[in-house]
Amino acid sequence: MTQRQFATIAARAGIAQDTAHEAVTPPLYLTTTYRLKALGQAGPYDYSRSNNPTRDLLAEALAELEGGSKAIVTNTGMSACVLALQLLTPEDTLVIPHDCYGGSYRLFTNLAERKRSFKLEIINFQQPDWQQRIQAIKPAMIWLETPSNPLLQITDIKAACVLAKQLSALVVVDNTFLSPLLQQPLALGADIVVHSTTKYINGHSDVVAGALICADQTLGDELKWWANCLGITGGAFDAYLTLRGLRTLLPRMQQHQRNAEQVVAYLQQQPLVSKVYYPGLVDHPGHAIARQQQQGFGAMLSFDLAVEPAQLPVFLDALQCFTLAQSLGGIESLICHPGSMTHASMSAEAQQVAGIGPTLLRLSVGIEAIDDLLADLDAAFQQLAASVNTNASDAADHKPGTTAASPSSDHADSAECRLNPALTALW
Ligand SMILES: Cc1ncc(COP(=O)(O)O)c(C=O)c1O
Repeated sequence: MTQRQFATIAARAGIAQDTAHEAVTPPLYLTTTYRLKALGQAGPYDYSRSNNPTRDLLAEALAELEGGSKAIVTNTGMSACVLALQLLTPEDTLVIPHDCYGGSYRLFTNLAERKRSFKLEIINFQQPDWQQRIQAIKPAMIWLETPSNPLLQITDIKAACVLAKQLSALVVVDNTFLSPLLQQPLALGADIVVHSTTKYINGHSDVVAGALICADQTLGDELKWWANCLGITGGAFDAYLTLRGLRTLLPRMQQHQRNAEQVVAYLQQQPLVSKVYYPGLVDHPGHAIARQQQQGFGAMLSFDLAVEPAQLPVFLDALQCFTLAQSLGGIESLICHPGSMTHASMSAEAQQVAGIGPTLLRLSVGIEAIDDLLADLDAAFQQLAASVNTNASDAADHKPGTTAASPSSDHADSAECRLNPALTALW
């Protein structure tokens, strides 16, 4: 798809189609129900859980942008994942990557272990034997998330789809990190794409919602039936806002990416950063595949700080332009500590296996002025460097028997507070 076509589809979705009053911007239909002309004469809409004109406009635009036959707009990204899983039975095996979004990991593992909804196999797609392992497992569904969250690892979608076809398995790709502008998994052979539209598609951090797009119409019809049956279709107002956000996806994404490239360049020369994870880097293990299957490297990146975990709050507290918060893909820059935030639902062992270290930080680079973003990072690194030096000289001066609390232990306490124990039950 050329960018002009993409921009036109996104900008003009539903524009100047109103037959009632010739409204240019499509109206928002908040109605829950629809009048029948007479008994037995229902129109195309009857009840908004099943169908809604505003939601349908968004679904049509998403189906076209992803190159699918049918899109179903859901009330969250997680419910789009739940919807795809309706295709599995307890005899089926689902293969998932070892480093997917923590909420997806929680859903897969709990459905498999506590509900016996399907059998589950967790694969490291970065190991050279991943194809042999999948061949031996003979799954009914392969779940991909590429680039992965939070380590931006790349999986070869085309290779996975070729293998899946041989095994008659379905391939689902979570395309949240890139959006259909930068990656179209259906064109690479996938059967289903899921999105947390909460992220780049809406792009303004003011709607939690999701979508599922099917290559095949029949599969799409079946999943639309399930979405209505389960009651997980999206709300009309959310669809209206998401459609408004979608219109500017292309210019937003361009600015996100320009900024991300410069942030990556800055982090690479920063001595307190031990590793930068970004598929646009030529030494990233998935760079060549990303170049082939993506139309850009996106604006998500992660990095390891080369300090003790207790020093994390020094860095995080100093930031002004990067807000410490979950989520991603909004116009504003966010920073997150995956280990205690987005991926807290993974056990310490699962985090370690996935490579999520204690000082890993993830950035969702926004569209602010790049000079402000870089100055913000620079100021925070300066404070971190000062704190590291102070701790080092304190340690050198330390005399046996001294009991005064060190700055790092204060910071450890404040790190604990950030984890908000009240939310633990949700992890
Ligand atoms: C890659 C990915 N998939 C799915 C989800 C779940 O989406 P939602 O929070 O809209 O339910 C998220 C949320 O962060 C995500 O990052």
